[in-house]
Amino acid sequence: MAKKKTTGPGAPESVAAQTPWGGRFEEVPDEIMQQFGASLPFDQRLCDEDIFGSLAHAAMLASQGILTEDEFQLIEDGLQSIQVDIDEGVFAWDITDEDVHMAIESALVGRIGEVGKKLHTGRSRNDQVATDLRLAVKAATEILVILIDGLCAVLEQRAAEHKDVIMPGYTHMQKAQPVLLADHLGAYVAMLQRDALRMELAYDAADMNVLGSGALAGTSHPIDRDLTTELLGFREVGENTLDGVSDRDFVLDLLYACSVCQMHLSRLSEELILWSTEEFGFVTFSDATSTGSSIMPQKKNPDFAELIRGKTGRVYGNLLALLTTMKGLPLAYNKDMQEDKEPFFDSVDTVLDSLNVMLSIMESITFHTDIMRKAAGGGFMVATDLADYLVGKGMAFRDAHEVVGKLVLKCEREGKTLQQLGAKDYAKICDLFEPDVLDWVDIEKSVARRHRDA
Ligand code: ARG
Repeated sequence: MAKKKTTGPGAPESVAAQTPWGGRFEEVPDEIMQQFGASLPFDQRLCDEDIFGSLAHAAMLASQGILTEDEFQLIEDGLQSIQVDIDEGVFAWDITDEDVHMAIESALVGRIGEVGKKLHTGRSRNDQVATDLRLAVKAATEILVILIDGLCAVLEQRAAEHKDVIMPGYTHMQKAQPVLLADHLGAYVAMLQRDALRMELAYDAADMNVLGSGALAGTSHPIDRDLTTELLGFREVGENTLDGVSDRDFVLDLLYACSVCQMHLSRLSEELILWSTEEFGFVTFSDATSTGSSIMPQKKNPDFAELIRGKTGRVYGNLLALLTTMKGLPLAYNKDMQEDKEPFFDSVDTVLDSLNVMLSIMESITFHTDIMRKAAGGGFMVATDLADYLVGKGMAFRDAHEVVGKLVLKCEREGKTLQQLGAKDYAKICDLFEPDVLDWVDIEKSVARRHRDA
């Protein structure tokens, strides 16, 4: 990071040679300032979007006669050669460049000479970076939605494999009513489908062309914003140029969608971790998706599910970080907004990784359906069915609730389950109980009664 020095021996002739704003300045910022202000280490990732945006901008300038055909050809060839080098991993990033935009522009000038400087006509880095970021958000949401769909498919597949398996359903972490494992897994499919919808809303919010906003007030050059909209694949032109350079709502929308998605993955992780304990014994993680202990030979740890749960904190943090960065910003562009990139990249990376990890976990986890079924037999889980039975015989639900409550208390005192009582025992408690009550304490029938339409 140390090339910029203006005074003393070896100082270059002009600041202009070292910065994009040289004319008005006699000194360049100190090295610490340059390091502090640089975004290249993290915004390099926008290079494909930046080149794509520049190609569209240059094509538009040529079609408007602002660049000659020859100038455009040189610029296009130059940008394409940079893209090839980047793709092949041989592009030499100059770490003294401030950001990805300057790095690519100075490489272009290095390759094609002075004409490269014409690329920035009618454009500012302010609308350039906003355009790049919109393209990147759109691309990220598309990948996120594909992975979400993939995880839903695995969950549905596992549910189909175990479609009749009964397990305890819980409220307050206490056994509540018997449910189907397929429905439990289906709840996560429902959550993830909503996540995909939220991602698509972020895509829509990003899908607006702000190139042409200039620094904040548009440009006097006769640009054609409809053409860049078409070339870049945006839905529409963003008309308000101040908003164009200072809006980051679309990033926040994605960070929120990522936060909710990660929260869902965290809840699923938490359940699997709990279910894998000896106390529950409902599932066993595959060897490939768990780890051992370096000291306790018997251990099998659900590290990766724990990490999904743990990483939720950083995904929430990224949303809060950008909300906070944005909250005090006057219009229009402020350098604060450079802080949008790391949270964006980090949340997308974290959620993509977590989706991939969860996919492997769910594909390979073993469900101990016999243990689940056994657990569904305990805990007086058909008590609600018994109350419903009495309601069917004409009793008010509140009274039925009390009668069954007393029955449960009696069973608890005598160490019995509801299934162990005979028809006569029931009749003794309440004369509305007839022999068909035994059907109502049957776990399979309890589930079937609540799945009439299934
Ligand atoms: N690196 C900057 C960012 O990410 C690009 C825009 C810089 N604009 C400026 N006027 N300094 O926000």
